[in-house]
Amino acid sequence: AKPGPVLGIETSCDETGVAVYDRQRGLLAHALYSQVELHAEYGGVVPELASRDHVRKLLPLIRQTLAEAGLAVKDLGGVAYTAGPGLVGALLVGAAAARSLAWGLEIPAIGVHHMEGHLLAPMLEDDPPEPPFVALLVSGGHSMLIEVEAIGRYRLLGDTLDDAAGEAFDKTAKLMGLPYPGGPALASLAETAEPGRFRFSRPMTDRPGLDFSFSGLKTQVLLAWQRSDGSEATRAAVARDFEEAIVETLAIKCRRAMAATGARRLVVAGGVGANRRLRAALAGAGNADAFRTYFPRLEFCTDNGAMIALAGAIRLEAGQHDDPQIKVFPRWDL
Ligand code: KG4
Ligand code: ZN
Repeated sequence: AKPGPVLGIETSCDETGVAVYDRQRGLLAHALYSQVELHAEYGGVVPELASRDHVRKLLPLIRQTLAEAGLAVKDLGGVAYTAGPGLVGALLVGAAAARSLAWGLEIPAIGVHHMEGHLLAPMLEDDPPEPPFVALLVSGGHSMLIEVEAIGRYRLLGDTLDDAAGEAFDKTAKLMGLPYPGGPALASLAETAEPGRFRFSRPMTDRPGLDFSFSGLKTQVLLAWQRSDGSEATRAAVARDFEEAIVETLAIKCRRAMAATGARRLVVAGGVGANRRLRAALAGAGNADAFRTYFPRLEFCTDNGAMIALAGAIRLEAGQHDDPQIKVFPRWDL
């Protein structure tokens, strides 16, 4: 591989993310364009609109990011892009741009697994976690506990049987009439209420194992909301107790995973990792059980180009790259 900073491109869903990362100098620049407003009126991501917007935004964002890093395109040593999982059309935009750039510049390109990007995101911070560690990956599409023996050596400890944690936030928010995107909206509404008016279950914590199931919670919340007085204060109270249920469930499973593996470091990543109460609960669990917790900064919990540039830079440095073919994997196990 040619030495030099790596351009990272993320287009798997509704954020166009671009960054430049250098193994010696760290993160040199990053930029994000969110399509949230575009999809808001539909109450969810419309795949075809997402692809078209990535087409519009990607090249200007690459130009902007390189300028911020003080780099010309010829200074790049490699290109990394999200190759999956995600929306096929959206992925193809990033893959085609990354492959074409690398082809023209005669530098290597590598397709990165989106969840590996999330998993490594805490390494963008000062005092990064060293493997081995356990990672809680909680995003819109995934809820997983993973044992990380080394970078690239992952063992799945637990997975969701139905909805992912972020999906549970989003769907619950929707059925309570909150605006899209639901997760952050529900979390900020919850901040205005005290906990304890409603009691929702902590799914699958009463039996051994590290798997999750969140779809039943949705139904509990819907019933509680429908039977209530429907006031704003009640809506906030429901949101607060729903959040408590998810956070406590995740914390119980994390403590269990730490005990089962004997790991001393817990890494938390993915969009739900931005949740303030989850961060506090896991930091508290770490204090009680003597493990250290690592979180990405808030903007690197949700989708971004920096985590893809980092994951790609590590893989390229290890001598990996893929054949010059534009290939994406809408469904792809880590
Ligand atoms: O990692 P991400 O940006 O995209 C995926 O790979 O899915 O995660 C997005 C998910 C959404 O479901 C969103 O509702 C959730 O993360 N999320 C939150 C918060 N911020 C984002 N959920 C709860 N509390 C938050 N503060
Ligand atoms: Zn993501």
